[in-house]
Amino acid sequence: MISLIVAFDENRVIGKNNKLPWNIPEDMEKFKKATMGNIIIMGRNTFEGIGRPLPGRINIVITKDESFHYKGVEVFHSVEEALEEALKLGKEVFFIGGESIYRQVADLVDKFYISYIHGKYDGDSYFPEISLSNFQIIKEEIYDDFIYKEYEKNTLAL
Ligand SMILES: NC(=O)c1ccc[n+]([C@@H]2O[C@H](COP(=O)([O-])OP(=O)(O)OC[C@H]3O[C@@H](n4cnc5c(N)ncnc54)[C@H](OP(=O)(O)O)[C@@H]3O)[C@@H](O)[C@H]2O)c1
Repeated sequence: MISLIVAFDENRVIGKNNKLPWNIPEDMEKFKKATMGNIIIMGRNTFEGIGRPLPGRINIVITKDESFHYKGVEVFHSVEEALEEALKLGKEVFFIGGESIYRQVADLVDKFYISYIHGKYDGDSYFPEISLSNFQIIKEEIYDDFIYKEYEKNTLAL
């Protein structure tokens, strides 16, 4: 299963200065619950923003930098190579950002985990416009600061 997890605000802002623009613990909990035990794939900027591999998950970083190494992180130099290797491991594969990664993978995704953050934050990174017309909402939860939805791709009824 290829999944994408993101939180964006009412202007589709996802980040500012390589950090999340908000601090919403309940949203971090949703992220942790979904990704724990699975595989997370991220761009190098997102990794630098987090600053360390996230525990309990296989951390994959994509970079063009052949000299990039970090303990506890698997490094790949293309999205395709990272995805091919991740899918061999038999776990759910999450693309966790940032903007450049989301733009490249949105069409490959089977399942979206989206937190719609209330408000409009100052930002410099955005989540692209995507079509969810082939997806159905399988979970929806309402929190004070955001609405959380999971979408799964429709399978054709034969
Ligand atoms: N709200 C959310 O849910 C959420 C989630 C994640 C991130 N974010 C935010 O998103 C922002 C970062 O987004 P971003 O677009 O600047 O950075 P990014 O996507 O995290 O990382 C970009 C870097 O990834 C590498 N990369 C991307 N595509 C590649 C490819 N096809 N082949 C090889 N390397 C590739 C390159 O690294 P090199 O330059 O090393 O080659 C590129 O500079 C931050 O503000 C972060 O906080 C928000």
